[in-house]
Amino acid sequence: MSEKTFICVTSDIPLNDYKLFSVDVIDIIICNIKGQFYGVSNFCPHKGVVLSRGPLQGKYLTCSGHGYRFDVTSGECPDDKDLELPRFNLIREGDALYVSF
Ligand code: FES
Repeated sequence: MSEKTFICVTSDIPLNDYKLFSVDVIDIIICNIKGQFYGVSNFCPHKGVVLSRGPLQGKYLTCSGHGYRFDVTSGECPDDKDLELPRFNLIREGDALYVSF
């Protein structure tokens, strides 16, 4: 059975920016891309560097470790097709954002 956990309200995350949240000891980056919200892991699937130190440009979050980019809307990595950034299922209810595990 999936569980829904409150993360934040949408206004907590500026447009075209992201914030890091910790939910049940799981680090989740929430990105606001043109008013759509996406949740991804904070840990780079390449060598595990935290992604919350890197810049978000458009839909791409760049890892500060080795510069790989990750599409936060799909998890795809254009710099290494074998890598995929884990994503989280977000639920939006009004202004509230929840994650469903
Ligand atoms: S650890 Fe992220 S690109 Fe290498």
